[in-house]
Amino acid sequence: MNIQALLNDKVAAAMVAAGAPEGTPAAVRQSARPEFGDYQANGVMGAAKRMGQNPRAFAETLLGHLDLGDMADKVEIAGPGFINIHLKADWLAVQAEQALSDDHLAVTRPAPQKVVVDYSSPNLAKEMHVGHLRSTIIGDAVVRTLEFLGHQVVRQNHVGDWGTQFGMLLAYLEKLKAEGKDQAAMELSDLEVFYRAAKQCFDESPDFATRARELVVKLQGGDEDCLKMWREFNEISLSHCHEVYQKLNVSLTRNDVMGESAYNADLAQVVADLDQQGLLVEDQGAKCVFLDEFKNKDGSILPIIIQKADGGYLYATTDLAAMRHRDRVLKADRALYFVDQRQALHFKQVFALAHKAGFVRDELSLEHMGFGTMNGEDGRPFKTRSGGTVKLIDLLVEAEDKAYQLVKERNSDFDEAELREIAHAVGIGAVKYADLSKHRSSDYIFSFDAMLSFEGNTAPYMLYAYTRVASIFRKAGIEAQSLAAPLVLAEPQEKALAQKLLQFEETIDSVVREGAPHYLCLYLFELAGLFSGFYEACPILSAEDQGVRDSRLKLAHLTARTLKLGLDLLGIKTLERM
Ligand code: ARG
Repeated sequence: MNIQALLNDKVAAAMVAAGAPEGTPAAVRQSARPEFGDYQANGVMGAAKRMGQNPRAFAETLLGHLDLGDMADKVEIAGPGFINIHLKADWLAVQAEQALSDDHLAVTRPAPQKVVVDYSSPNLAKEMHVGHLRSTIIGDAVVRTLEFLGHQVVRQNHVGDWGTQFGMLLAYLEKLKAEGKDQAAMELSDLEVFYRAAKQCFDESPDFATRARELVVKLQGGDEDCLKMWREFNEISLSHCHEVYQKLNVSLTRNDVMGESAYNADLAQVVADLDQQGLLVEDQGAKCVFLDEFKNKDGSILPIIIQKADGGYLYATTDLAAMRHRDRVLKADRALYFVDQRQALHFKQVFALAHKAGFVRDELSLEHMGFGTMNGEDGRPFKTRSGGTVKLIDLLVEAEDKAYQLVKERNSDFDEAELREIAHAVGIGAVKYADLSKHRSSDYIFSFDAMLSFEGNTAPYMLYAYTRVASIFRKAGIEAQSLAAPLVLAEPQEKALAQKLLQFEETIDSVVREGAPHYLCLYLFELAGLFSGFYEACPILSAEDQGVRDSRLKLAHLTARTLKLGLDLLGIKTLERM
């Protein structure tokens, strides 16, 4: 259950009963400090002000209408008119028992929505590099959380598989084939090398460049030979992507690929429809849309270019077609785009235009979930020592190697196979967690040392915390299902832990609402901290009373399950031992 939402509804209803207009926000939040109770309602002052009443007097009236049943044992007015709510330990204990007895941890399933999630979406001309990491792992965490809540997710890997760069690549592939170089396919296995070689020919040889341009035209005109080479090329490129997804434990499959080329046949229609609605304006031969709300600094309107003078279509054109597809064919309620923050203006423009042109229903919520840049330790965009782009696969292999050394130093009892497995979970988990734990909109510094630390809000810390809780059960030799005594929250640490456990739902609700998995990371980190506090203060296996021991074991069990589920929603594999 979402305690915050429940309290918010109750306080909001009491406000209305006390005379506030319908829809007045109650603004119930988790309290920042225990002396302010467990939750506080911050909406009273604003409401009273609008009604011209004294806030404390209004709060008094409100309390007369507030019935929290058996949830709270103390509700008080504080300061200028805050309402502090102290939850009752018995009530929390009952909720915790319910979570324990349910394999979905008693998380409510909201009315299911159909959610299209556009993520990863690399350009196939090049091998995946670190710039695609953020979209891939943040998007995947949100997808998993949406699915856990019962929403129907349609993953869309909007790969860049169509564009002028393909002419260059096809020309190079053609050249290699003509030269009878059978290793062509082999060279292709390193796409970076291939791309660079093609680019070099393009820059150095005018004939090659001309051929490249011809091939783009032929490709776009549907020439079978070109299409065949293009498919071959994409096939190899995509297989590289999927190697990375697999290593990263990312849930994208080949069926989720819906690249730019898939919308090719719709583009002329997009232009025709915009034209028919009188939205198109010719500007130096190009077809553009001018929307008043997008102005340059000098006040002139910023155009959205739909078709170039030479007839070529643009990124925006494809996105318009894709939005229409997401609305009409996929029938989405929400469409989320996990794409670099630097594309924010592009998305603002195409979203506004899609609504204006009626390409999507008003109800379809189009949301750009932008993210910042991953920087190196020098604070600049992450690069190799020599200034090149870093291939994602190399970075991941390095993370596993570093984790291997680390795990081996800490504990040499493991055999080689176990070490490898642990190193994989720790290394990949560290890269993912370091990214997921920051708010997506901020830039962050990629540092192996920081992400592999066993202290702080890191994957190694979280994975270790999980193994510790899980090991209590192994040591006890007890099955969680056989714990019969009721859960009792007698000590403050027990109550604090139980309350945190019951805030899992409000945490994941924020993750899916804002497309922001860092809420879940922070939650898990705090949960692990509260568990440590509980563990120190409240002996479990050495508790004298068997009822107390069982009750504490139940709390430990719920903690382990919550940690495991949380890490699972983040796409991070847990270990039973490390
Ligand atoms: N391929 C693009 C890039 O690498 C990202 C595509 C994002 N999705 C979209 N519908 N525009 O920048």
